[in-house]
Amino acid sequence: MLKVGIMGASGYAGEELIRILLNHPKVKIASLAAKIEKMAVSKLYPWLKGMLELECSDKSAEEICKKSDCIFLALPHKVSMQFAPLFLKAGKKVIDLSADFRIRDVGVYEKWYEVKHECPEYINKAVYGLPEFYREKIKKSDLIANPGCYPTGAILGCAPLLKKKLADTKSIICDSKSGVSGAGRVPAQGLMFTELQNSFRPYKINAHRHMPEINQELSCVSGEKLEVNFIPHLVPMERGILSTIYLKLNKIINTKEALKVYKDFYKGEYFVRILEEGVCPDTKNVARTNFCDIGIRIFPDRSLAIVMTAIDNLGKGASHQAVQNMNIMFGFDEKEGL
Ligand SMILES: NC(=O)c1ccc[n+]([C@@H]2O[C@H](COP(=O)([O-])OP(=O)(O)OC[C@H]3O[C@@H](n4cnc5c(N)ncnc54)[C@H](OP(=O)(O)O)[C@@H]3O)[C@@H](O)[C@H]2O)c1
Repeated sequence: MLKVGIMGASGYAGEELIRILLNHPKVKIASLAAKIEKMAVSKLYPWLKGMLELECSDKSAEEICKKSDCIFLALPHKVSMQFAPLFLKAGKKVIDLSADFRIRDVGVYEKWYEVKHECPEYINKAVYGLPEFYREKIKKSDLIANPGCYPTGAILGCAPLLKKKLADTKSIICDSKSGVSGAGRVPAQGLMFTELQNSFRPYKINAHRHMPEINQELSCVSGEKLEVNFIPHLVPMERGILSTIYLKLNKIINTKEALKVYKDFYKGEYFVRILEEGVCPDTKNVARTNFCDIGIRIFPDRSLAIVMTAIDNLGKGASHQAVQNMNIMFGFDEKEGL
């Protein structure tokens, strides 16, 4: 059995990792840590009563390291980078859910995250954990930079058209709506039920920290430096991200041809589902799963492609994708536990 440790076990992504890994046939959860007083994990999460007898506490990294072969860092950015080197030096594999190792240009990271990177020498060692793009590198890596939630939906949605040079790279508009768990468990006034219920608002228009990540990966796919317009919204639901992406076509194709482009691009990819013509994705169909559902509509007379993606922000957007990466790193069936 593979022994795993989870740092940040008291957060939303940490809780989702526990939920999945508990049912993983090849994994034993060996250590749980968070910045809290020592307590039984079943007290922290009453749904775990009778299912997992472990304590969650503010353990030292050394203690987690001793007990685990693979460590998930479900920690805020700026915190993950403080722990990853210690585990890597001890020969452990690390899957980081924060942004600390996702951006290959350290200057870009430092500008957007407003912090000095503490271990930039590890950025080049990290593999961006989008299995559909980097599976072979993930197999050999000790450090996975698990993708952000918005970037996962945006990148998977745009890549096939960009790879085939079918879409203009200067005018992409990605309009994304996220459930509130995307903001994490830390309380904030703007995230209170009374502030959010029956309300729907955009925020950080072309200023969200996930933009450099989307731009980095889509620039790689398209072979030219591009910048998307990214408009995130907060919707009063617990989880899920629906992205509607507007792309101007370089060459007129119809919906059937576009669907073929997408099906060919994601051939053999179990977790990316291309929906049939006329079917739109829905967050409820991907809730608590690792699936990304993609729907496509083409308006040839307007040279317009509308691509819609649905993921669970804690699923394919975080913890489930992290487990998919773990499966690849340790040679398990990629779908194991998912
Ligand atoms: N939520 C999502 O949909 C989502 C999607 C993709 C990626 N991510 C990323 O995944 C990471 C975790 O997100 P989350 O939503 O689970 O956040 P969260 O709910 O706020 O949880 C953060 C966790 O980190 C722990 N922590 C915070 N500061 C710490 C420190 N200095 N030392 C040790 N532990 C510390 C917290 O412990 P305490 O509770 O004790 O403070 C908590 O367990 C973040 O980097 C986030 O950007 C989240």
